[in-house]
Amino acid sequence: MDTPTEVAREARFPKWAAALTDQDAFQQEQARLGRIWTLLGLTLDVANDGDWFTAELGGRSVFVQRFGEKLKGYENRCAHRFYPLRTEKNGNGPIKCGFHGWTYNQEGHAVGIPRCKELFGVSPREMSAKIAPIEVATCGSLVFGRFQNPHTDETLEQFLGEAAPIVEAMCTLKRRPRTISLTVEANWKLSYQISLDDYHSAAVHPTTFGKGGYLPRKALRYFRFGSHNAFFLGADENALQDMVEAVKQGTYRPMRYRIFQIFPNLLISLFHAQHYWYVNVQQYVPVAPGRSFMRSWYYRAPFETGQGPLARLWDAMSEPGRAHIVEYYIRQVNSEDNGVVERLQEFASQQGGWPRIGYAEERIKWFEEAYARAMTD
Ligand code: FES
Ligand SMILES: [Fe+2]
Repeated sequence: MDTPTEVAREARFPKWAAALTDQDAFQQEQARLGRIWTLLGLTLDVANDGDWFTAELGGRSVFVQRFGEKLKGYENRCAHRFYPLRTEKNGNGPIKCGFHGWTYNQEGHAVGIPRCKELFGVSPREMSAKIAPIEVATCGSLVFGRFQNPHTDETLEQFLGEAAPIVEAMCTLKRRPRTISLTVEANWKLSYQISLDDYHSAAVHPTTFGKGGYLPRKALRYFRFGSHNAFFLGADENALQDMVEAVKQGTYRPMRYRIFQIFPNLLISLFHAQHYWYVNVQQYVPVAPGRSFMRSWYYRAPFETGQGPLARLWDAMSEPGRAHIVEYYIRQVNSEDNGVVERLQEFASQQGGWPRIGYAEERIKWFEEAYARAMTD
């Protein structure tokens, strides 16, 4: 029988595992998460006027498009008969539906409707058809979006909190990064939870990540801010605030591994490989209760290295070879994690109750608290 403490814990997070197997619970979860700032893509993919890309938000297809200086986002659904306005991953050009040819202006109003008066009895203006806008904002080169939320006007910067200047510093890109994407046959939360778990490395990544065995507790420095958190390897309690100040002043230089977990499904890590520092931006996009799509962008950390001209030249020449090794390493770590989460998913109907969470998994609890809040708000 459950102890009273376990019952109390279960009462705190009664539904944390529901969306792992249940389609209705998954859809409700996604609808709520769609109102939270979510990474949609990179500004590099909408660099020129008219460029657009599609993304998933709250279980729905959306697209982001550049109109001059501005980025705007809309649900990818025609106001006429709901045909997708964008049927590719990205492109350039006006918003014109491929089904009956309605065109929309940058405010999302249907301004061109073929034979409108004849077939609908009104002018396009009188028809006043409109596609649903989403809110779009950027931090560095990252484009975030959310469905309009009548209950909060929290800006992206407020949402990111302490991480805002750090994300801006770590994710401002001059050129297109390398990417990895793969389908994971598991719920997005299982993947995200394993990324919040600093206990599994020795067992799951014995040769890649966990070479030193289990990390001692004193090496684990965790920070929690808003719905987000961070892990700094072997840092002191002021390290987050120090990093915020240093990135603002432009004096921050990477020293040890750090990872920022931005609710709901984004992580940004800073790691050392092949004698250089890299950033990996990784997201688990929910597709179905038992399936997610992992996409990641990795690149050399954009912090000053103090190299002389010769070292720079050598660095630039040798980077492609190094990037291949780094990619191999990221893929290896991901495939080891995916092996575990796909097993967890197979047995997902047995998940429930509240697990026993140790110090090295503390951030899973924080994440579930943020998730529970998002589900009840
Ligand atoms: S569905 Fe888009 S124009 Fe008809
Ligand atoms: Fe892992």
